[in-house]
Amino acid sequence: MANTRRRIAAFAPLLLAQHAVAGLYPGMSNLNHTCSLVDPVLSCSAGASDPSAVDTCCTETFGGLVLATQFWNTYTGFESQGQVLPKDAWTLHGLWPDFCNGSYTQYCDLTRQGTPVPAWAGPDIGTFLEPLGKLDLLAWMKKHWVAQPGWLNGDFWGHEFSKHATCYSTFDVECYGPAYRQHEEVADFFETAAAFHRALPTWSWLEASGVRPSNATTFSLGDFTRPLTQGFGAIPYVGCSGPKYNATEAGKGSTDAGYTVINEIWYYYHVYGRVQRQQGLAVDANITGGRVTNCAQAPGALHYYERTAGSEI
Ligand SMILES: *[C@@H]1O[C@H](CO)[C@@H](O)[C@H](O)[C@H]1NC(C)=O
Ligand SMILES: *[C@@H]1O[C@H](CO)[C@@H](O)[C@H](O)[C@H]1NC(C)=O
Ligand SMILES: *[C@@H]1O[C@H](CO)[C@@H](O)[C@H](O)[C@H]1NC(C)=O
Ligand SMILES: *[C@@H]1O[C@H](CO)[C@@H](O)[C@H](O)[C@H]1NC(C)=O
Ligand SMILES: *[C@@H]1O[C@H](CO)[C@@H](O)[C@H](O)[C@H]1NC(C)=O
Repeated sequence: MANTRRRIAAFAPLLLAQHAVAGLYPGMSNLNHTCSLVDPVLSCSAGASDPSAVDTCCTETFGGLVLATQFWNTYTGFESQGQVLPKDAWTLHGLWPDFCNGSYTQYCDLTRQGTPVPAWAGPDIGTFLEPLGKLDLLAWMKKHWVAQPGWLNGDFWGHEFSKHATCYSTFDVECYGPAYRQHEEVADFFETAAAFHRALPTWSWLEASGVRPSNATTFSLGDFTRPLTQGFGAIPYVGCSGPKYNATEAGKGSTDAGYTVINEIWYYYHVYGRVQRQQGLAVDANITGGRVTNCAQAPGALHYYERTAGSEI
C-alpha cells in the first residue's frame, strides 16, 4: 500500500477534483434503506463484493477497509485562538475508507463539499452541526479532533469530510431517505469517526506499558507496536515524521532510513454492515501486503515527544 503517497496527498490540494462525480451510485432510490431489517454483511467479504446484490446504504461496498487514524502532535500553532491539544490523549485524524485491496480513492463527491472546487474555503464546517442540534458533538470535536500544526480545526474537518466521507457508500445522501436534512450525513460521519476514536485509547495503551512522551529519552519501534497490537487485537500502522534515522547524529553510518518522530497510528478494520453501526473487525495493517510502519527500526531510534508547554489542557 502506498503509505508514502498518501502522506503527501493528505496535505496536497484537491488534485482529483475534476474527475469527481456526484454520488457513488447515481440513480439510486432514497427509499427502503432500513438497515436494521438486513443482517449486517462484513465489508470486503464475498457477500459485499457486488453492489447490485446488497443495499449499498447498509453494506459498505466502496471503501470496505476502514482506517481509524490518530495523530500525535506537540503543538497546534493556534494556541492563542484556543486551539489546543487534549492532555493524555492522541487526537483524531480521520476515518478513511480504503478499497479492500489497500488502494484508495478520495474526493468522491464534490457537490457535497458546500463550496466550489478546488479548496475547502466555505464556512467552518462546524456551523453545519449547529442547526442539527449537535453542539455536544462539536464541543467533543474541538477537544479531540485537532488539526495538524498550521491548520484550523474547521478547515481540517471539512477536508476530512470531502476527501474521505464521500467515498463510503453508506454516507450517500440517498441513504437518509426523502426527508434528508442538509448536512445530516456530515454530522453522521463526524459522530461515527468520534465513536471509533473513543474505542482506541492509544495514549493509555502505551502508558500502561510504561511508554510516556519524553524529550529526555528515545524509544524503539516495538515499544509502540507491542502494546498497541495487544490493545487493538491486530497490527496497527505506526507512522513517523521528522528526519530519517541515518540523517541524524544518532544514526550516522546506519542503513536505517526510517523516520524518527512518532506522529500517527492507523487502525484497520473490516466493518459489519454500515460503518455507522460501529462494529468493526480489527485486521492487520498489512492485510493487503503493505508495510506496517515507515519508522526507523534501529533500537532507540524513535522520539515520542512531550507536548509544548501551554499546548495542551
Ligand atoms: C420499497 O418497499 C416497498 C415495501 O416492500 C415496496 O412496495 C416498494 O416497491 C419499494 N420501493 C423501492 C423504490 O424500492
Ligand atoms: C483495487 O480495487 C479498486 C476498487 O475495486 C480498483 O478500482 C483498483 O483497480 C484495484 N487496484 C488494484 C491494484 O488491484
Ligand atoms: C540512508 O540509508 C539508505 C538506505 O538504507 C541509503 O540509500 C542512504 O544513502 C543513507 N543516507 C545517509 C545519509 O547515510
Ligand atoms: C504482517 O506482518 C506480520 C509481522 O510484521 C507478519 O507476521 C505477517 O505475516 C504479515 N502479514 C501479511 C499478510 O503480510
Ligand atoms: C519536546 O520536544 C518537542 C519537539 O522538539 C517540542 O515541540 C516540545 O515543545 C518539547 N516539549 C517540552 C515540554 O519541552
